[in-house]
Amino acid sequence: DKGGHKHFMSKEIAEQPSVLTNALGYYIKNGKIELPDPGLDFTKIERLTMVACGTAYYACLVAKYWFEQVARLPVEIDVASEFRYREPPITKGTAALFVSQSGETADTLAALRYCEGKADKIISVVNVPESSIARESDLPLPILAGTEIGVASTKAFTCQLTVLAILAIKAAQDRGHMDAKQVAEALEQVKSVPGIMNHALALGERTKAVSRNLAEARDILFLGRGPMYALAHEGALKLKEISYIHAEAYASGELKHGPIALVDEHVPVIVMAPRDALFDKTISNMQEVMARGGKVLLITDEQGAKEAGPGVWDTILMPEVDPFVAPIVYAIPAQLLAYHTAVSKGTDVDQPRNLAKSVTVE
Ligand code: M6R
Repeated sequence: DKGGHKHFMSKEIAEQPSVLTNALGYYIKNGKIELPDPGLDFTKIERLTMVACGTAYYACLVAKYWFEQVARLPVEIDVASEFRYREPPITKGTAALFVSQSGETADTLAALRYCEGKADKIISVVNVPESSIARESDLPLPILAGTEIGVASTKAFTCQLTVLAILAIKAAQDRGHMDAKQVAEALEQVKSVPGIMNHALALGERTKAVSRNLAEARDILFLGRGPMYALAHEGALKLKEISYIHAEAYASGELKHGPIALVDEHVPVIVMAPRDALFDKTISNMQEVMARGGKVLLITDEQGAKEAGPGVWDTILMPEVDPFVAPIVYAIPAQLLAYHTAVSKGTDVDQPRNLAKSVTVE
């Protein structure tokens, strides 16, 4: 049942504030973080290894910034297909965390099995509680997104991020990097996400208008710094999957090390830049693109738009959001742009060519 939507993907995008609220209610009780049994004590963990594929991997990429920043916990991330054959040494004090919507992705499951008996703890962040990955972990953490039908993952991504954000706060608390007051404040920020997301979802018409222009492009670049670098990847993957437009993500600072050679008036460059500590850096990279005739679509908030100055091709104005949770909210324009571009091109949004919802063979 598409619930009145034209596609499952659009229904699942719209559902995010409500499924996120479920996840928040499950993990935050009376202002405190509660994990399901057997729980997790981050004082005993020295290092976190996170492994996944596709969109779930980009959730790990965001989470790496969170764990390192707020909990000062060293994090290694890898895509499962590389991790499993790399056979990396897993040293004492390592927790291994696997993220998977389906819980059945062959490479992710094989990576988990590789860590069995080597990692101190095997944690999974999954949508399907009865899946192989959930069953084979010491601590399966459900994301409570509900069934996701669209091949392009949307609500699973933001629910994965929500659970990982809460876990990062728990790690910060256990490791003494946040006191009770700071934990309460951080949890308030996470709890504010569904409300802010509703404002971002109201950008539907705006992104639809922009997408008509994007649909003409053959190549599109996505740029971001910090956690927005991960969102750039997620935006590019979503666009490739359903609109078949070639899209690439780069860390803004990497631009001048090669990819800037691609920039001309035919390549739209989507810059994801909330007004945060890295904003000025990203904007200076954006100006380098504009100086070479690149068409910039800036996704930022009001203050960001003001400071970025004139000359951008188009702007998507996002609601103001705390930098810690911004990656969860900035998933919305990434999803909406891909969705409307695909609709405008007339591709099969829910069942794109060559792709399966769950990749159970390697
Ligand atoms: O079920 P999983 O989360 O393990 O799946 C991982 C990837 O196959 C998946 O995220 C894929 O990249 C999606 N089609 C992205 O939209």
